[in-house]
Amino acid sequence: MTASPSVDVRPLDAQRVEEAIETITERLPHLPRVEAGLPFESPDLFPLRVCHTAHDEHDRIVAVGLVQRVVFAPPQRCALRIIVARDAEGAGVGSALRTSLLRHVPATMTKLGSGVFDDDRRSLAVARHWGFEIEKHAIESSLALADVASLPQSPLPPGVTLHEVPDLQFADADAVGRMLLASQTNPEAAIGFVMTLEGFGSMLGPGEQPVCVVAWVGDTPAGITFGGVQAGVLSIAYSGVDPAFRGRGIMRVVKERAHVVAARLGATVSNTTNEEHNAGIRRVNADLGYVVRSGTYRMVQDLRLS
Ligand SMILES: CC(C)(COP(=O)(O)OP(=O)(O)OC[C@H]1O[C@@H](n2cnc3c(N)ncnc32)[C@H](O)[C@@H]1OP(=O)(O)O)[C@@H](O)C(=O)NCCC(=O)NCCS
Repeated sequence: MTASPSVDVRPLDAQRVEEAIETITERLPHLPRVEAGLPFESPDLFPLRVCHTAHDEHDRIVAVGLVQRVVFAPPQRCALRIIVARDAEGAGVGSALRTSLLRHVPATMTKLGSGVFDDDRRSLAVARHWGFEIEKHAIESSLALADVASLPQSPLPPGVTLHEVPDLQFADADAVGRMLLASQTNPEAAIGFVMTLEGFGSMLGPGEQPVCVVAWVGDTPAGITFGGVQAGVLSIAYSGVDPAFRGRGIMRVVKERAHVVAARLGATVSNTTNEEHNAGIRRVNADLGYVVRSGTYRMVQDLRLS
């Protein structure tokens, strides 16, 4: 399927997944390898995933494009990602991949998302040209994890106990699920990206070790952090405290424990992403020593208008 005179666009060859991921991470150095690999290595996380690649005359992969829907996205929303190698930009490759992939957006979808790193003005201009508008500004930050023995563990607030539950098997899963739902006052949930315990289970890549720390106040679940450790990196998927239990320092101790658990599993760094205006968790992260690494404009377009 030739899409422009100089590149050939076709479905990703299953043998060339690693090369496709390398094309992505070379072009987007802010993107951790673990995250770049998710659409390829965590099939349960993406009920919809179509990947096409663009090849130059030497059959090198010069661009990767995806239509994907993450399991916790709103039902009528999927995303388009196009990543073109630096030396192939500006020649119509991105456009060719987009044309080829738009045919794979199911007719039931009403919204198409995308994302652009906030230091990439041209990509932002191209995304706008394609009809995407900025919806949110996500901030990615990282904390270096020292060895287990020297990681801080603040005293627990009164009445609080912490439990490590990596298998997500809770005696009272309904109560934990309700707490998880109540805790989602974050901007992502407001636009329909809602986390569930079942969803957590599908978020792990092959060989990724789950990390789940839950705080109880008495016998009531109050806060949770869930993530995974792979290749020395703790990727935090979600952290939240039920509004009824906020203001007691619960998230700080939950995350500190998650760091300890992750360090035991070999993590040397913890990565997290928060919406720019989510002041509560950004304050907790800053106090814990997280340092801003990059920012991403999360973008969206209404397919009913196009
Ligand atoms: C954004 C990106 C995919 C564009 O790839 P590319 O191969 O350079 O893009 P093209 O040369 O095919 O141009 C794409 C379109 O943008 C238009 N365009 C080019 N430069 C532009 C600019 N400065 N401002 C606005 N539009 C521009 C082109 O005319 C073309 O329009 P068309 O699709 O209507 O024909 C590429 O720069 C990239 O990989 N960026 C990093 C990843 C990313 O941010 N992706 C964007 C979200 S999917």
